[in-house]
Amino acid sequence: MRAAEAEARSQGLEQRIVAAVHQATGEVAGFTEVCVHPRRPGWGYPRDTAVLTGHRGHGLGRCVKAHMIRWLVAERPGLRRISTTTGAENTHMIRVNRELGLRSLPAMIAVRQDLDALLSPGTRRA
Ligand SMILES: CC(C)(COP(=O)(O)OP(=O)(O)OC[C@H]1O[C@@H](n2cnc3c(N)ncnc32)[C@H](O)[C@@H]1OP(=O)(O)O)[C@@H](O)C(=O)NCCC(=O)NCCS
Repeated sequence: MRAAEAEARSQGLEQRIVAAVHQATGEVAGFTEVCVHPRRPGWGYPRDTAVLTGHRGHGLGRCVKAHMIRWLVAERPGLRRISTTTGAENTHMIRVNRELGLRSLPAMIAVRQDLDALLSPGTRRA
């Protein structure tokens, strides 16, 4: 993680993380991450957001993401948009994003296939 963060910094990538810490145990209950690319300072790109299973159901996902947005708005007035992607089956993350005011754009379809299978005889090609 530290190496990945250092590499991102060396490329001018701004990386912010908000974490929710359970006071009684010191455990990180949930977190969210947003990156801002140097060549696109008007856009924020959320990366991972997660809440540990035992801490779910308290609105922590919405809380850390809302805190992140307030932080960005306060410190980066040039930031105009936040753009993120979520798996269509991930109803919980989609709900949290909608609660925060994000809107869905037309769906993007990602397809995946092993190269070996694509190259093997008998595989239909487009
Ligand atoms: C998305 C996520 C952060 C939401 O967690 P949260 O902030 O605790 O969610 P909420 O407090 O809004 O939960 C509302 C309800 O949904 C339930 N819920 C939330 N996430 C759930 C999940 N992954 N599976 C089943 N139920 C879930 C809660 O238990 C709660 O139920 P209740 O109303 O009966 O008490 C969490 O599901 C998660 O960490 N998912 C895995 C990581 C992930 O997919 N990240 C996004 C990658 S793009």
